[in-house]
Amino acid sequence: MTSSDGLSSDIAADAALVADAPDAAVKGTMSTGSAPPSGPIDDAALDALFRRARTPRSWADRPVGAETLAALYDLVKMGPTSGNCMPARFVFVVSEDARARLRPALSAGNVVHCLAAPVVAIVCHDPLFFEHLPNLNDEPGLRDWFAGDVGLAEETAFRNGTLQGAYLLMAARALGLAAAPMSGFDAYQVEDALLAGTGWRANFLIALGYAGDETERPRAPRLDFDTTCLCL
Ligand SMILES: Cc1cc2nc3c(=O)[nH]c(=O)nc-3n(C[C@H](O)[C@H](O)[C@H](O)COP(=O)(O)O)c2cc1C
Repeated sequence: MTSSDGLSSDIAADAALVADAPDAAVKGTMSTGSAPPSGPIDDAALDALFRRARTPRSWADRPVGAETLAALYDLVKMGPTSGNCMPARFVFVVSEDARARLRPALSAGNVVHCLAAPVVAIVCHDPLFFEHLPNLNDEPGLRDWFAGDVGLAEETAFRNGTLQGAYLLMAARALGLAAAPMSGFDAYQVEDALLAGTGWRANFLIALGYAGDETERPRAPRLDFDTTCLCL
């Protein structure tokens, strides 16, 4: 275990303690953390999230409103990050102007499908995420620890920001939306055209909308447990 892993574990453990503290709700987490369901969620939910969920190929002619995006983020923000660092930032591309600025950054094969979606989320992370840590984690010195180690800060921002992007994808499915993740784009162009002044880094895109009528198409095979998992 590297020193950074060791410290991260400590922070995660500390953060869990903080999350259980009575004042956590006051800090805007909204829930006081009543016990999660003890058993599996039902089959319909598992189907909607995993087994029958697909990456959409077409979109219904149905908008995604601001309230839906807010509801989406209300779920995403509850997903765990190390030390509650929350480095992800999300830019929702909705307007025609923003779409026009996104277009040249997209890989040719993604232009039509991506821009046909009512919303395109740019999953970003803030390299200076640690400036918010004093409000997110009571552990003293955390902000300075990350501020003094650029490599660790970058690794932490990318790891947790990517996780939060995945939470967005699954939260979208949970709310009945379809989500199409895309890495076929030029991140530097996106940062120039849409993130100027924020300092945020673009990681990947998730086109969001309601799925169109799609004919059944075969699912690509998945690797099985024995190939991908070790029990040690
Ligand atoms: C990180 C990531 C990047 C992806 N990038 C693209 C992309 O640039 N263009 C595209 O058409 N599909 C892209 N996909 C979609 C995947 O090919 C698709 O989700 C995968 O084949 C699973 O399909 P299914 O959900 O229908 O089983 C991406 C998926 C992920 C998770």
